[in-house]
Formats: sequence, C-alpha cells, structure tokens
Amino acid sequence: MSDGKQEKVIVIDFGGQYNQLIARRVRECHVYSEVYPNTIPMDEIRAMNPKGIIFTGGPNSAYLPESPSITKEVFELGIPILGICYGAQVIAHLLGGKVDTAPTSEYGRTEVKVDQSSALFKNVGEGDDGDTIVWMSHTDYIAEAPEGFRVTASSSVCPVAGMEDVSRRFYATQFHPEVNHTVEGQKVIENFVYDVCGCKGDWKMSSFAEDTIREMKSRIGDGKVLCALSGGVDSSVAAVLLSRAVGKQLTCVFVDHGLLRKNEGDEVEAVFGPDGPYDLNFVRVNAADRFYEKLSGVSEPEKKRKIIGEEFIRVFEEEAKKIGAVDYLVQGTIYPDVIESGLGESATIKSHHNVGGLPDHVDFKEIVEPLRLLFKDEVRAVGRELGIPEYLVSRQPFPGPGLGIRIIGEVSEEKVRIVQDADYIYREEIAKAIDRWREGKIDGSGDISDRKDKNPIWLPDQYFAAITNMRSVGVMGDGRTYDYAIALRAVNTSDFMTADATHIPWEILDIVTNRIVNEVKGVNRVLYDCTSKPPGTIELE
Ligand code: XMP
Repeated sequence: MSDGKQEKVIVIDFGGQYNQLIARRVRECHVYSEVYPNTIPMDEIRAMNPKGIIFTGGPNSAYLPESPSITKEVFELGIPILGICYGAQVIAHLLGGKVDTAPTSEYGRTEVKVDQSSALFKNVGEGDDGDTIVWMSHTDYIAEAPEGFRVTASSSVCPVAGMEDVSRRFYATQFHPEVNHTVEGQKVIENFVYDVCGCKGDWKMSSFAEDTIREMKSRIGDGKVLCALSGGVDSSVAAVLLSRAVGKQLTCVFVDHGLLRKNEGDEVEAVFGPDGPYDLNFVRVNAADRFYEKLSGVSEPEKKRKIIGEEFIRVFEEEAKKIGAVDYLVQGTIYPDVIESGLGESATIKSHHNVGGLPDHVDFKEIVEPLRLLFKDEVRAVGRELGIPEYLVSRQPFPGPGLGIRIIGEVSEEKVRIVQDADYIYREEIAKAIDRWREGKIDGSGDISDRKDKNPIWLPDQYFAAITNMRSVGVMGDGRTYDYAIALRAVNTSDFMTADATHIPWEILDIVTNRIVNEVKGVNRVLYDCTSKPPGTIELE
C-alpha cells in the first residue's frame, strides 16, 4: 500500500488527540493517509513520495526546547504542508515567526473570518467577511506569522487563525478542520488535498481488498494459516480476506464460550461453516460447559474477565495443537490499535483487550494483520465489498468476555438464557423502531447531520441488556413474583472513552419493557441506565 505509486498524504503526529481523525478525513477524500511519528527520518518521507504532509495538533508549547518538533529539512522537500493548531505553531516557530502564550485562550466553537481567496478556504465561509464556525482549542498562539506568509484567517482574539505561503505551498490553521464542530472543516481538508496537493482521489476500498488479497497470496504461498474467529467485524473481515487469498490453507477456529448473544454461534457458523460461501476449514468448538464450570461461584468482575480470557486461550491452543504447526497466525488488529499501542507522542495504553492476547503454545512463525492500516468504518466497508452479510458487518462492539460481563455477579446458565432473550428483544425492537422512524411513524426525532447515513437522533452507538444481580417483588396475574431486574443500556459515543446515555423515546422503551417482562421467564422488572461515562463505564462490569 505504500509503494510510492499510490497518492498519499501523510500525517505527522505531534501528540494531538485528533491525529487519527485527520488521517480518516483525508481518506474520506479517497486519498490514502497514514500517521507517522514526528521523528520520522526525511529519507523515509522521500521514499514514500507523499503528495502532502499534515502536522497534527498537540498539547505542548512549540517554543520550548523539550517540545516535540521536526527537522527543518521537512520544509526543503518541496511537498505541500498543512499545519493544524500546534502543527501550525511548529511551522511558525521553525520558520522564524513568533509563537507565544495567547492573551486569551480559545476553547470550543469560535467564529473566524477566512480569506476566501486562499486556496485553503475556497468556498468556505459566508458573506463578504467569510464568517465560519470552527473548533478552537489552544492556549498558545501565533503572535507573528513568519516572513513570506500572509494571514488568511482570524478570530476576535486570535490574529493568526490561518496563514499561508503560497510559493512554498505551506498552509496553517489555528483551528481544527478535522473535527465535526468545524462546520466546513471537511471542505478545508478537501481544498488542501485536491487543490493544494493536486490529488485525484482514486483510493477505494475495492482496491484495498484486491491489493491485500494479492499481497497475502504472494506472502503466504502454500503456507498454513490459522485464525481465531470471534464473529466480530474485524476477525470476520480478516478471515474472509485470507480465505480469498489462500482458501483451504486457512483454518478458522471459532470458540463458542456460551457467553455469546442469542443465535450468534449459529449465525457465525452459517457464514463461515461448510454450508457458507467461503472455502475454508472451519472449526467450531462448543465450550460453554467448560466456561460455566470455571465461572461457577465467581462473582468478582476482574476475576471473571481473567477466567474467560485464559480459558479462551486454553481452548484455542488445544484446537491449534490438533491442527499442528502453522506458518501464520491471523490477528484482526486495526489501525486505532496500532496507533494506541504506541506510535509516537500520543501513545496511550489501551484499557481493553479482546479475549486473551497471544497464545503461548501455538506453533506459528509469523503474524499477519491484514487490517492494520484500516479504521473501523473502513473495515466495515471492506466487509461489504467482500459480500459479508450486513448483520455481521454492521455489528456493534461486543466485548471479548461476552455476556460474562453483562451478568452482574455469578454466571449461571439460567442468567445467560435470560440476558440473551432480553437482549434479543431489545435489539429487535430498536431495529423495528428505526424502520418506523424511516417511515415517519415516530415523531419528535430529527436526524444528526454529521452522521453519514440518516439515522434517528436517538440511535445509540452501543446498546444491550444486562442482568442485574437484584431480584425484587412484583405481581403477575394474581400471584407474587420474586424475579430478576434487567438493565437496559444505550450510549452515544464517538470514541467509547466517554459516553452519554442515549435518550431513547419512551414509546420504544415501553414496548421493549413490556415484551421483556412478558416473554422472558425470570424477569419482572426493567430498568434504564441513565449514567454517562464517566462516572459509569459502558459495560456494567
Ligand atoms: P467500558 O465498559 O470500559 O467499555 O466503558 C468501552 C468499550 O469497550 C468494550 N469492552 C471491551 N471490548 N474486550 C473488548 O474487546 C473487553 O474486555 C471489553 N470490555 C469492554 C465495551 O463493549 C465498549 O464498547
């Protein structure tokens, strides 16, 4: 993918929170983009021959010697550069301008005036003054633009909210065009990518799939490949890519730990098993009893997580042993995992892992990670391109420990059955409600304009039922009941690090509640979790 022939705009990371988002916005222009640390050697950049370079924001002060910077050689490459926020200040500082603490910091939505004669701001801004709303987040500012630059945007307190040196093709914005709150941000990115860098925008998911399949074929040859298939989006798409590349040389092991959503095991088998469309070796291991036994009597959440993770690896290893030595182990790693596990300045530790990690006792030579350069929505797009059924491709996140962490306290078969049935009803009713909303039958809900496909404003990014460890008294018919309470969770979030409880319309919750108490034996009460994250987490354990 980085053969130098394909159009590419690279993002240089200075520790900003939005570094991935910038690459993603560029990819939305159908131009391939990757994030690199600010220490990247210039020869490496030359070898990649990018059409443009974007400097990210970051939390430091560009004028302090210990702050992340970049060699001035980058300005000699003859490649267009766009600096964003801290990235803009780095340009100003290195090229002889003045960066200082701003007399007034700016945070949040801010009105700026842009000069529409700048290529960066073509068709951006309204009225003669080019007014537009942008997202600011800075305490330092460019007090003086470097020689050769002209100011192209300003706010009431920020004299240099944009600057450019057209002859050298260097551009900068103090604001963040990559975030949705910058109303015309995508236009700014497009102007840079197409007009300044001269990209054509011919990068497509179909070319990614074809290229990857070809690349895997030549890399793997007649080697044997093993994949732990969870039925989640990433491992499913990775498995299909590999099956297209090497067919029966691939074995997929699917461990059903008895903590999957209702019908999930059969759905995965229908797609990947012998009756499905893919020509691979599929091994389904029904290990529910083993997991239930290990979990019996355990109620402490971290212990449960550990037991499930470890047992998963043990089962996988046992199956792998039956297959014998393999050459490649497939991992469904995606780009955010790559960046989060330590790219450069913005490295953070990932708090959640999918079940397990790497098994110790599987005999393999190399790991293949066909999705390591893709964002989640791009993985879904590849999945659709490969013809994977929509219900698998558009699946919401499901934690590795599965329902084990949606059953508060001790896990039992009865509780698994209850939570599966309640969750199934919840998902079914949300799906029906979306259809009703599309037919205009649910009132009072607009759409969110920054969502790609039109969806109701109340559509959660993740939603599920959990079974609480509480039983309470109720009445059914003429009799007293003493049954479990189900908690319904629904959140809106863009990064799953923070989240708000979704305002699902009462009429939908009403239907879900009625169905659960009537159809799921053992439940007499349904509660809605209104907690945001923080202080709550999305999962209940
Ligand atoms: P929390 O509960 O920490 O969850 O707010 C944030 C997101 O991570 C998912 N999650 C997990 N995913 N393995 C995973 O692969 C895990 O152990 C795990 N725990 C939580 C959760 O569903 C939510 O999307």
